[in-house]
Amino acid sequence: MKHLSLSPDDRVLVLGATGFIGSRLIRELAQKNIRMRLLVRNASKASALVPKKADAEIIEGDILKNINLQQALKGIHSAYYLVHSMGGKLLSQQSDFAEKDKQAARNFVSAADASGLKRVIYLGGLGETGDNLSEHLRSRLDVAKILSEGKAKETFLRAAVIIGAGGASFEMLRYLVERLPVMTAPQWIDTRIQPIAVQDVLAYLAGCLLDPETAGRTFDICGHEVLTYREMMEQYAEARQIAKRFIVTVPFLTPKLSSYWVDLITPVPAGVAHPLIEGLKNEVVCRDSSIDEFVPIQKTSFQDAVKLAFSEETTGPGVTGF
Ligand SMILES: NC(=O)c1ccc[n+]([C@@H]2O[C@H](COP(=O)([O-])OP(=O)(O)OC[C@H]3O[C@@H](n4cnc5c(N)ncnc54)[C@H](OP(=O)(O)O)[C@@H]3O)[C@@H](O)[C@H]2O)c1
Repeated sequence: MKHLSLSPDDRVLVLGATGFIGSRLIRELAQKNIRMRLLVRNASKASALVPKKADAEIIEGDILKNINLQQALKGIHSAYYLVHSMGGKLLSQQSDFAEKDKQAARNFVSAADASGLKRVIYLGGLGETGDNLSEHLRSRLDVAKILSEGKAKETFLRAAVIIGAGGASFEMLRYLVERLPVMTAPQWIDTRIQPIAVQDVLAYLAGCLLDPETAGRTFDICGHEVLTYREMMEQYAEARQIAKRFIVTVPFLTPKLSSYWVDLITPVPAGVAHPLIEGLKNEVVCRDSSIDEFVPIQKTSFQDAVKLAFSEETTGPGVTGF
């Protein structure tokens, strides 16, 4: 177990450092004086996000194209895997994201095995296995499985919707509620979800790095409240002190139609919205609370998470990437 403990001289690789989670995580790690290396596709985008006093090396590369992965992993003790390929403005651009994500994970595992990496911490999605799982949630599980097959011990954190400024799921919710006092919605808005504040996700990510006992384990991470998407919209309006929203469900709104609708109303493009909306047919709630034994935290309520997301806009990075 000793070799899994991080020492002060060790450097931690962050993959996805320019993203919603990664950009916040590098600030969290900098505060804890953890030495970092970032593998990013755009070095100037990354250097703007790194806190001034952080000890962070930046390497430009690409996981999917296998550019500079081996160089980035050289001498690294632990890595965060916070990457996915979902995106694109158009629906047609996101059709092969699952295959790309598997390939990127395979590239990572073969470079990590050669480098002697000890640990990898992956943030993926909640959702039960089975035929009914959406392509997006299945892809998160596939990546976790590929990472678990490498020599480095994986810690797999499974989260549902993460509440924080710039997160794709949160921005979809935010703009739908802010812009539509009355809305028609598909039946998925009554699916149960257990959201989590981005601040709590960061506490779990950092806590797992500092506790070697979490290596080789899977944890569900969630806030306290299980809410339907409808209830999340209602509570969002309450937290923002805006008038009650009226939501009418209609049977004919398919995920495809809904994603065009989201594209029109919100800054989230259809290519990002479609896999997320498809995922909303699956219940995503925590089945296991064993993370509390390792990283006990004071959980943020849903409404406080919404308020924090708004305060973050003026004080934080507010990365959207859209
Ligand atoms: N957001 C949520 O609500 C949520 C909920 C549950 C789980 N998660 C999981 O959390 C993880 C991080 O999600 P996120 O919301 O932070 O995503 P995000 O904001 O879209 O960030 C994705 C990151 O991956 C990088 N990336 C993509 N392809 C790459 C490649 N080929 N080479 C190098 N870097 C690449 C992107 O870099 P560029 O800046 O160059 O594009 C970006 O930094 C994902 O596994 C996601 O499934 C997120």
